[in-house]
Amino acid sequence: MHPLPTAADAADTPEEASRSAEDDDAYRSLIARLSRQSVDRHFDAYADVDWDAPDHRIDPADTRWIGVLGDTLVETDWFAGLPPAAQARLGLHLVVSRMKLGLQFENVLQRGLLEYALGLGNGDPEFRYAYHEVIEEGHHTLMFQEFVNRSGIDATGLGPVELVCTRAVVRSARRFPELFFFFVLAGEDPIDHVQRRSLRSGQDVPPLLQRIMRIHVTEEARHLSFARNHLKRAVPALGPVRRLGLSLAVPVVLWLMSQMMLGVPWQVSRRFRIPRAALAQARRAARDRAEAAEAVRKVRQLAGELGLLGPLPSALWRGLGLVEPARAPQAPGTTA
Ligand SMILES: [Fe+2]
Ligand SMILES: [Fe+2]
Repeated sequence: MHPLPTAADAADTPEEASRSAEDDDAYRSLIARLSRQSVDRHFDAYADVDWDAPDHRIDPADTRWIGVLGDTLVETDWFAGLPPAAQARLGLHLVVSRMKLGLQFENVLQRGLLEYALGLGNGDPEFRYAYHEVIEEGHHTLMFQEFVNRSGIDATGLGPVELVCTRAVVRSARRFPELFFFFVLAGEDPIDHVQRRSLRSGQDVPPLLQRIMRIHVTEEARHLSFARNHLKRAVPALGPVRRLGLSLAVPVVLWLMSQMMLGVPWQVSRRFRIPRAALAQARRAARDRAEAAEAVRKVRQLAGELGLLGPLPSALWRGLGLVEPARAPQAPGTTA
């Protein structure tokens, strides 16, 4: 069994190729480094997680599930009025629903990466890395599904129409890879942000979930690096029509993904008969905390760097609530 990854493991990942991404050799060596790291530091869903350890048992009455992924629902008056056992059960349902959506997202990602790799030529270093990522996402999918199975909760995740729509995402990996890699960031960045914040918060996270999240954020750092650096290299070469299409599609994709990944899943709200007022209060709390904006800040910065924040797309980003509210200026003499 591999030792538990630390924050330093994720920090090792070459997150930004910045200017060097323009340079073909630098890009090739960055992709080679990511591939090497996937060999040196990777995890297996079954060899590296002791599913049968006594403290890994999933107990629906465990109050540590409450708000473990930063759900603002737990801050509502309605939630505060529930008995602790119901709060714990609802907390676990939220975790399991996110896992189910997460594994469906990873499934789409794997299919898209395979579609993308099929179009690559011999000797292209992205081919090897894309396969490393598919394999890692395969293990993440297995971890998430095993967690869902052991929870005893029959989470359904995406609806039938949404599942059909995933085919368009897979096709985009071949026809419009820049849009696909923004989709990758849109799905991975918000969830990565939530998991890192939970691990850093000092909150008492049940050990099984803690292990899964640590493994996940370690490997996700590489995936995010690949997607970002691919975009830095590919977007400047786009023609004006594709560039405009991309600049308008990115905020919409990001909004859809963050709503899906960070909102209250409809199955949970139906099962627990969550009143509309509580759902609205949770949404307001999330907006006040600029949850979505904070989680998508890095993607917006990248869009800005790539010249995708013209007046029209910028208005769309603001209209969808994806821009952090301006911070109040600091009073003179105060320190940060
Ligand atoms: Fe993943
Ligand atoms: Fe990933």
